[in-house]
Amino acid sequence: MAIRTESECTEPELAALMRAMLASNPAGRRLEIGTAAGGTLKRMMLAYPAAERPSFVVIDPMTYFPGQRAAVEANLATAGIDPGTVEFRVETSARALARALRADERFDFIFIDGNHALRAVTQDLRWTRLLNPGGFVCLHDYEETDRIVIPGVKLALDGFLAHRRHYALREVVGAMAIVEKLDWGAPEVGAGELAAAWGRQLALRWRHSLAKRLPGSPSASATATP
Ligand SMILES: C[S@@+](CC[C@H](N)C(=O)[O-])C[C@H]1O[C@@H](n2cnc3c(N)ncnc32)[C@H](O)[C@@H]1O
Repeated sequence: MAIRTESECTEPELAALMRAMLASNPAGRRLEIGTAAGGTLKRMMLAYPAAERPSFVVIDPMTYFPGQRAAVEANLATAGIDPGTVEFRVETSARALARALRADERFDFIFIDGNHALRAVTQDLRWTRLLNPGGFVCLHDYEETDRIVIPGVKLALDGFLAHRRHYALREVVGAMAIVEKLDWGAPEVGAGELAAAWGRQLALRWRHSLAKRLPGSPSASATATP
């Protein structure tokens, strides 16, 4: 398999991501959940001169393709970025969060682009409890585009925003959603919301696979399940 070293986002999506990142507290830490070969990570880091670059943390189990970690590091190095300046946490978002909560960590910018299933995105949104007000959480593949159909991200974020007035959806560019955290507030994403997301994901998958078996159904041509 050819490894794609460039970002999986379009240029307009990247521009929106950069606007949010550069509007966040310049000294605060940046977090990417799901990096593939580090294409977007590279672009985010290059948005700052090396001497002024804030800390970047990357969470990814690094099993997306063989040699993923080495590919990310080589990609960064080719762009003149020392991979040693990135804090890689080679594990799932859920495992990394448990540790981050114990350490009472804080971030000023979070880019969520890991597993796009509804329950997994809901899990990734638990990281927002560590996001400082004035910071941004951005999610790729939120909006359906001609490239991809993955309703899991949209369902998870819409559900998250529906009962949280301390977050505001600032813009949607292509498939990129940009959300600002306005203040501390409740509720945080908890076990009940995760269980509900899991149940809804199973129900949607079941409906999707049933629809695929029915000839002439519009869902028969859908490219991904929630
Ligand atoms: C769509 S790719 C990321 C693309 C990348 N952000 C970019 O723009 O170039 C998804 C990544 O999420 C990672 N991933 C999958 N499940 C994950 C999880 N539970 N926690 C963290 N990362 C995960 C995969 O290993 C893969 O590298």
